Amino acid sequence: MSDTLLAALDSNWSAADPAALTPDHAARLAELEQLDPALVALYRRGSEVLAGAADANTLRDRHTALLGRERGVITLGLAEMPRLSVDERKVRGKALNLVKRWLTEVHDARREAIALEREAADALDVTLPGRRGFTGRPHVLSQVRDDLLDLFHGLGFSIYTSPEVELDEYNFEKLNFGPDHPARDAHDTYFAGPDVVLRTHTSPGWVRAMEERKPPLRLVFPGRVYRAEAVDASHMDQFHQIDGLFVDRNVSMADLKATLNTFARAIYRADLPTRIIPIYFPFVEPGVQMDVQCVTCSGTGHIATAEGGKRCPVCKGTKWVEVLGAGMVHPNVFRAVGIDPEIYTGFAFGMGLERIAMGRYGIPEIRLFLENDLRFLEQF
Ligand code: PHE
Repeated sequence: MSDTLLAALDSNWSAADPAALTPDHAARLAELEQLDPALVALYRRGSEVLAGAADANTLRDRHTALLGRERGVITLGLAEMPRLSVDERKVRGKALNLVKRWLTEVHDARREAIALEREAADALDVTLPGRRGFTGRPHVLSQVRDDLLDLFHGLGFSIYTSPEVELDEYNFEKLNFGPDHPARDAHDTYFAGPDVVLRTHTSPGWVRAMEERKPPLRLVFPGRVYRAEAVDASHMDQFHQIDGLFVDRNVSMADLKATLNTFARAIYRADLPTRIIPIYFPFVEPGVQMDVQCVTCSGTGHIATAEGGKRCPVCKGTKWVEVLGAGMVHPNVFRAVGIDPEIYTGFAFGMGLERIAMGRYGIPEIRLFLENDLRFLEQF
């Protein structure tokens, strides 16, 4: 009889020793041997496949096959009872109920164990090595900007922020650009409206600051600027500048030179030669350009190569690299903002952050700053 019932259980099912779940397993088998030996094989196999169920779904299927109310093995066994004698029936009934209770116990114990195994698998293993979270950092241009702002802070300059979308009046007119200056051409400047431009430099900040405040003024103007430029390795149509402005009584060219040399020594090298040469900007008079000696060729204009040397590609053989524009504030700019040029004088300078960062770190390509390639950004 037990054999026909056993046939209802898949012989390929994984099995395990139920003794770990029900410590009195051996005693149960012995008891059943005494009571109704025909059910011993059934209980042995049933308890083993319950104990061997790997997961909750498998366990549920096996529970259904064994203890399911309609087609379960125990139900089938009970259905056969009418064919037995009265005495046999008494024994079989008792034994089947016993097997049913015991299998239910094995099932419950295994279900508990599976739940615990799952919990353990999901638990946090505090002995594993930690995973380092992704930590961002300031962009290399932000680092250079902050270094410069720190430096100028130490020289008494405060930060003044002015808009990126600027009136033509501030970007050009009040900075003494003539109406026909080429920078005012749509080829060079992005126009947002007839009288509105994307600022082409951070110098319009001076105009705003001088209209708003009384001298003495010692300010720096960091920010993004735009030019309708063809993009290549050293030109972008947007980049960053920091302008500086110092307005007071008796401000002289000597103050400008001292300030620029302090800047160059801090940013480059304490003994790096610098020079100041005249150049034209409408908003300063005199206007100058500061150069530093070319770091790439150490001021020789040549670099060594396998073929015996060539012209330095960075300074193009000139031995100098331009770093900024500067000069004494033009009297017309003072007049435009209502400051009397007979009483006040001032100096101003403006530098490009990309160029400084490229020189400092040997970055050969300006487009890298905007590409956001982590392999680039992570180097700084
Ligand atoms: N604004 C000028 C430029 O963008 C730089 C500059 C600033 C020159 C201040 C002189 C004085 O090129």
